[in-house]
Amino acid sequence: MQIVDTIAGTRQAIRDTRAAHPDGTLGLVPTMGALHAGHLSLIDRARRENPIVAASIFVNPLQFGPNEDLAKYPRTFADDCAQLERAGVDLLFAPTRAEMYPRGAAVTTTTPSTTVDPGPIANRLDGVSRPGHFIGVATVVAKLFHILQPDRAYFGQKDAAQLAILRQMVRDLDIPVDLIACPIVRDHDGLALSSRNRYLTPDERAQALILPRTLDLIAQRIAAGERRSEPLIAAGRALLEQHPEVVLDYLTLVDPDTLLPVPEASPGTLVAIAAKVGTTRLIDNFLLE
Ligand code: PAJ
Repeated sequence: MQIVDTIAGTRQAIRDTRAAHPDGTLGLVPTMGALHAGHLSLIDRARRENPIVAASIFVNPLQFGPNEDLAKYPRTFADDCAQLERAGVDLLFAPTRAEMYPRGAAVTTTTPSTTVDPGPIANRLDGVSRPGHFIGVATVVAKLFHILQPDRAYFGQKDAAQLAILRQMVRDLDIPVDLIACPIVRDHDGLALSSRNRYLTPDERAQALILPRTLDLIAQRIAAGERRSEPLIAAGRALLEQHPEVVLDYLTLVDPDTLLPVPEASPGTLVAIAAKVGTTRLIDNFLLE
């Protein structure tokens, strides 16, 4: 695996690799590192579908709010590299902050520089409690697409709002890449894998199971015939209220493309939850079949 930390070096490496695989497609898996089996499922899918596989590791300051966990976000670069190498990644782009944002250290979405603003959709779901987050995500992913020029890019359904926003961005800005959504990988007990799970104490780890359990309850109620969003959400909230140490951010049924609430569940509806367990913010969701 070739590891490159500059934009120029990456462009050159991609030109060389593409020359060696003239008809080969390039699949990209963007990450912030602290890799787990969820990330690796994206790499595996990319490996199956493309002769050339690239990954990126960049903890993007632009998508973290001032009171969020940028400074303490887990960084496990050596271990990540070993995992990517084993998974068969050809090229890893791992830039420094200065390489990605040369205009200055204080990178915020209000810094005078060009950003990608997805519009109102960026203020839905996680965008409500994380203002500016999705501008940061859209901006860095647009940059990664321009730098690596993938034919396909792989994203987890776990970050359902991110996926909807990136799909819209690719459509609106005519970026020639196919976005591939990959299913949520879960731990043996149902907790969705996340780099942030390593913040959880053993007790919080146990409490966190209330997220998938709340989603399961809603899925059961839908299977039993309830379609109306209001009573479904009320049932989920009632379950969560038994766990006062879990602070709900949102529990909602939305259209998976617009992220706008729907009054009734129907095939394709996204049922999404976000909550804080201790100081750790976790998200989970499912798509109705
Ligand atoms: P990160 O949180 O590192 O996630 C990288 C990719 O892995 C995302 O597409 C995410 O949805 C996917 N992923 C995370 N947990 C998963 C799980 N349990 N199952 C399946 N896929 C999972 O998402 C980001 O980084 C950043 O916002 C990024 C897109 C890299 C832009 O900075």
